[in-house]
Amino acid sequence: MDNPRFHTRQTTFRQLETFLEVAERLNVTEAARALHLAQPSVSTQIAKLEKALGMKLFEQLGKRLYLTDAGSEVQSGAQEIFDALNRLEMSLAKLNGLTVGRLRLGAVTTAKYLVPRLLGPFCSQYPQVEVQLNIANRSEVIRRLENNRDDLYVFSQPPKNLDLVSIPLAENPLVVIAPAGHRFTGKRISWEQIAAEPFLSREPGSGTRLAIEQHFAQFGWSLKPQMTIESNEAIKESVAAALGIAILSRHTLIHTAPGNLVELDVVGFPIPNRWYLVSWRTKNPSPVAQAFATFVDDKGELAVPELPQ
Ligand code: PGA
Repeated sequence: MDNPRFHTRQTTFRQLETFLEVAERLNVTEAARALHLAQPSVSTQIAKLEKALGMKLFEQLGKRLYLTDAGSEVQSGAQEIFDALNRLEMSLAKLNGLTVGRLRLGAVTTAKYLVPRLLGPFCSQYPQVEVQLNIANRSEVIRRLENNRDDLYVFSQPPKNLDLVSIPLAENPLVVIAPAGHRFTGKRISWEQIAAEPFLSREPGSGTRLAIEQHFAQFGWSLKPQMTIESNEAIKESVAAALGIAILSRHTLIHTAPGNLVELDVVGFPIPNRWYLVSWRTKNPSPVAQAFATFVDDKGELAVPELPQ
């Protein structure tokens, strides 16, 4: 066997890019779709990379694909390589007085009510910036953070055990919602008065659910969801269809047709909550990420959406 080395021409950026997509999704079909490639060509690229490195990067157990230890190493190394290239490209552009390049943002689902309001003015100020917004629940965004997938992240509850920098953004209060015409509409009630109603909750791993659980723990209340639904919009629809009550970000109510849902006035609510723009303390930010963080720090408050009354 010849002496395969990472930095020889045997390993191409294309292979590493393909590898990162597969490593992120642990699914060749989904990676092929994301890359607009045929599945066999993705498999070929991975096979060539494994051959060049002389190591298996994935293993298949049953139907699932797993990264090997070597695969995990290559994943973080490849990510660093692409980050460095991205930074280099942006720094060169900056020499020409331009802020260009890609801004990758990972955001929890509720942040989709806030982030576009930040991106609107930011993109008009920096029209050459291309934005990639990845929206998922909290545990998925933490996974992206741990894998260094994005430049910056928006969380309501940044993980406490990691060395992060957080810029506070707008408030994101959590409120009790019920179908329009609910018998407690317009009354001040206690949680105990509605605790017996069917409760619709986000899934484990959701930041909204975590905030509710932490709040309930303080009061000795327990959360017994009748239905678990992985989408704020689907919960709103289900509440409007009188399947139960729920606790959601008040911002999710902004685009609700009037007359479908009501916010109940419950003692102990809203649950105080706030979004944060988060990055690794030790990560060398790209010029575009730096420009966005500065922009948000200076102007973020202006972008706060009007909450429904
Ligand atoms: P979630 O997070 O999408 O995981 O519920 C939302 C939030 O923490 O605001």
